[in-house]
Amino acid sequence: MLLKGKVALVTGAARNVGRGIALRLAREGAHVLLDDIESAALEGLAAQCRADGLSVHPVLADISNPTAVQSMFKQALKEFGGLDILVNNAVIHTPSKAERGPFLRVRAAAWNEFLSRNLDALFYTSQAAAKIMTRCRRGSIINISSNGAVQAHRQRLAYDTFKGALESFTRALAVDLAPWNVRVNALRPCAVADAPAPGTPAEVRDRRLGAMIPLGRIARPADVAWAVVFLAADDAAFITGQIFNIDGGMLEQSRPPELELEPVIKPEDLDLEDGLIDPGGNCRSVRRQLSPDSSGHGNKA
Ligand SMILES: NC(=O)c1ccc[n+]([C@@H]2O[C@H](COP(=O)([O-])OP(=O)(O)OC[C@H]3O[C@@H](n4cnc5c(N)ncnc54)[C@H](O)[C@@H]3O)[C@@H](O)[C@H]2O)c1
Repeated sequence: MLLKGKVALVTGAARNVGRGIALRLAREGAHVLLDDIESAALEGLAAQCRADGLSVHPVLADISNPTAVQSMFKQALKEFGGLDILVNNAVIHTPSKAERGPFLRVRAAAWNEFLSRNLDALFYTSQAAAKIMTRCRRGSIINISSNGAVQAHRQRLAYDTFKGALESFTRALAVDLAPWNVRVNALRPCAVADAPAPGTPAEVRDRRLGAMIPLGRIARPADVAWAVVFLAADDAAFITGQIFNIDGGMLEQSRPPELELEPVIKPEDLDLEDGLIDPGGNCRSVRRQLSPDSSGHGNKA
């Protein structure tokens, strides 16, 4: 258990990425405040966690409301006596998602509402957490960004703009809070979803997206959750102001394999041609072929 006894707060914890993060933090021994505005999903998660013996406390709080945020952090202090980890995960959409669409159609009101609510929420939760963490001279704030901060999604200008701002906020806050040993980092996932049922439209879409990613699949909430644990753990004491891609290598490639200028030899063809593996993909036989013994230069065991 890497986070035994620590207190964490995860915003937007009721589903998808936030849910995966909250579950993993709790399984690593943290006491976790689960924040969301969807009461049924939140209660369902809390009940599941308690049944598994995990220490959680659900809080129904809209993080763009400063009064709700203040009372949520008061609950953290009352329930668990402090706060070590804040995960700014929730993204707040306008009710009609009117911030999306072609730039020429987006209304200023939707743009303003989306950006102001999300930026305000980031400020409110981070400042409330910082007030507790600076007193204890330790803490870890982890902001969930998106590849949209550095790679444009089509017709999601407001979202990408917010994520770019979140990354600047991360760096600036890291420097501001460093004197109190409060670390601030961000994770930049690409597409994230739980594995959908085989044959569903969601699965087909995820498979197509996965084919564009060097590691061959989209991210799972657990992939993001593990990186949160890494950044929250005491052993990450010297890491602050960083933004980590959680994207299976997507941002590092210049283009997907089918668009490379030269034909790309498939791994299985390469392995067979080079005699590295047998057609059954038997890993032991590969180890034998590569071991010093097989070259005649090593010591025989
Ligand atoms: N899902 C992806 O493919 C993906 C990719 C890259 C980055 N991300 C980032 O990961 C984070 C989580 O994404 P997701 O797909 O799980 O989002 P989601 O929309 O599925 O879930 C967000 C959660 O936040 C809650 N929420 C919304 N408004 C809130 C408010 N005002 N106060 C408190 N809670 C509120 C929602 O009820 C929901 O449970 C986001 O920051 C997103 O930008 C997601």
